[in-house]
Amino acid sequence: MKRVLITGGKGFLMSRTTKTYQDQWEILSLDRTQLDITDHEAVSQTFESFQPTHVIHAAAIAMTQVCEDHPDLAYRVNTEAAEHIAKECKKHGAKLLFFSTEQVFNGNKEAGPYTVDTVPVPDTVYGQTKYAAEKAIQTIEADAVILRLSWLFGLPERNLPNGYTLFWDVFSAALRHQPTQASPNEFRGVTCAYDLIDQFDSIFALPAGIYHFGSENTMSRYETARLILKEINISEAIIDETILCASEKFKDHPRDLRLDYTQTKIAGISILPTEESIRKELAAFHYSL
Ligand SMILES: NC(=O)c1ccc[n+]([C@@H]2O[C@H](COP(=O)([O-])OP(=O)(O)OC[C@H]3O[C@@H](n4cnc5c(N)ncnc54)[C@H](OP(=O)(O)O)[C@@H]3O)[C@@H](O)[C@H]2O)c1
Repeated sequence: MKRVLITGGKGFLMSRTTKTYQDQWEILSLDRTQLDITDHEAVSQTFESFQPTHVIHAAAIAMTQVCEDHPDLAYRVNTEAAEHIAKECKKHGAKLLFFSTEQVFNGNKEAGPYTVDTVPVPDTVYGQTKYAAEKAIQTIEADAVILRLSWLFGLPERNLPNGYTLFWDVFSAALRHQPTQASPNEFRGVTCAYDLIDQFDSIFALPAGIYHFGSENTMSRYETARLILKEINISEAIIDETILCASEKFKDHPRDLRLDYTQTKIAGISILPTEESIRKELAAFHYSL
């Protein structure tokens, strides 16, 4: 049985992962109060005592604005701690799964979809600290799968955090009768977290390297937001009132952060397009109005 050390255990993605695999893996899932990953000595002690065969390093400061406001902290958490964890993985022969982000491309002049060979030009602290972590992990030559994720969503679950997702943004806007804005000039993959979580055993088996994971999405953020409400049978009139078209946003420079998944699919990982991912998740929750 895999012995899996999870950091960021109470976050959006790892809380769902811990729940999903609790009977399949031997898991040590730690949140920030149990293991502050900037405490390198505590991290080393955790490796020594648990002796993981696999590590999912998900702890991060993942909010772009928090990283901008606290760049030193973001560097310590997102870069230095990841580097130390990669060193410990190498020392203990553990396979590492590290989450990077589409945001490493947010300063690239050319539009997506970006391949794994595109050189990232991150222009936010979040993107820069994640890209620096990627490079540090590769320099160490840890047995690491670095997964650049597009935007994940999940439906609300009991006692689990919702995260900041497009789904919850538009869903709560409709519930509260408070419109939300979405740009027709922004393009990103939008993917159900479980499309990823359900494949972690296959992802662990990938050779070390950088991979992209998310959904192909031909729709803009505006169109994707509308689709979510349409799929839960919200009327066109209410959708019009709820999703406001922010047509000026990114008008001169469309924001296209989409990733190219060719190499990930070739490696045997299946990826649903955004439309199917949304429909599958709603069906899994037997959601209908
Ligand atoms: N969700 C997405 O759409 C998405 C997309 C691309 C990449 N990613 C990456 O995927 C990973 C998981 O994302 P997520 O959405 O689950 O993020 P999340 O909900 O913010 O979870 C990250 C967790 O890291 C913890 N953390 C922060 N600083 C820490 C520290 N010093 N020591 C230990 N834990 C610390 C946070 O705890 P506190 O809340 O207590 O601070 C939080 O629970 C992250 O690395 C993120 O960058 C996510």
